[in-house]
Amino acid sequence: MQTLSTLEVTVTTKKGFAHEIEVGLLAQSASISPKFLYDPLGSHLFTAITLLPEYYPTNTEKNIFSQHQAEITNAIGVGGTLIDLGAGNCQKAESFFNSLKPLSYLAIDFSAEYLEEAVKKLEGKYPHILMQCIGMDFSKQLLIPSAIATSKRIFFYPGSSIGNFLRPEALHLLSQIKSQGNAGGLLIGVDLMKEDSVLMAAYDDPLKVTAAFNLNILRSINLHLNSDFRVEQFRHRVKINHAENRVELYLEALEDLTVTWPGNSREFKKGELIHTENSHKYTIESIQQLLNDAGFEKTQIWTDPKNYFAVIYAQ
Ligand code: TRP
Repeated sequence: MQTLSTLEVTVTTKKGFAHEIEVGLLAQSASISPKFLYDPLGSHLFTAITLLPEYYPTNTEKNIFSQHQAEITNAIGVGGTLIDLGAGNCQKAESFFNSLKPLSYLAIDFSAEYLEEAVKKLEGKYPHILMQCIGMDFSKQLLIPSAIATSKRIFFYPGSSIGNFLRPEALHLLSQIKSQGNAGGLLIGVDLMKEDSVLMAAYDDPLKVTAAFNLNILRSINLHLNSDFRVEQFRHRVKINHAENRVELYLEALEDLTVTWPGNSREFKKGELIHTENSHKYTIESIQQLLNDAGFEKTQIWTDPKNYFAVIYAQ
């Protein structure tokens, strides 16, 4: 396996991250970027979330993939380079290897360590597919290194991760995908708006795996910033924002407290919130509009019988 680490990747990392975190913590309404959820433990906890019966997105998407595999493969065509955005454990992409027969596979994830392990395991199983991986934060800029084959590129963006962006950011990412696709396309999974009770159970599960996942961000921040967050002083909070069509995730301070780090500190009052993630839920019309605005002219859409989730191939 080839691990590509471009200079830009390393430079933006160390210094940029501490600054980014500090800006978020010092804002009047504090926030932490959701990418910091995915440290090595966080990545494992997220995999555990995908195994929860309450977290419908993963299973629903998987069922759509298997129900419609022939049509999806037909729409995409075989060969080319499969580019997996936010690959995680690479399992979703692997389920397409036999049908899509990619010549090469490029896995990209913020969590480089977790990704490398996953890709190493895959290589042994598919010796005929050239495998490469990059640890990259593509939330601001997506730059596929020129070393990656310029033949047809199939971008794969499952799990409704697009929902974690505000509309302008989502539009920016999708436009970059479109412009680097080399006449390929984008296979994307998008979560659809649904009843509050289903959303609440998915984002606040009774086993509290999601709570652990969300709270773990504080430990991840302590490592990046050298701060002294104490996990036990916070709790996981979920709100549904109907005006914005999204689930909002927060950490709520359980008491008055002060967090300090080299050069600065922030006080939190009991009940004060730190925003950690938005998970936007789309309608078929709103996601189609977004894809069109990003330059995709043609979309093919598959859904599940309950209309919980949509899988789209956009060109
Ligand atoms: N992208 C996932 C989603 O929006 C991530 C996620 C699931 C998540 N549960 C979470 C992020 C809880 C923060 C907290 O569905």
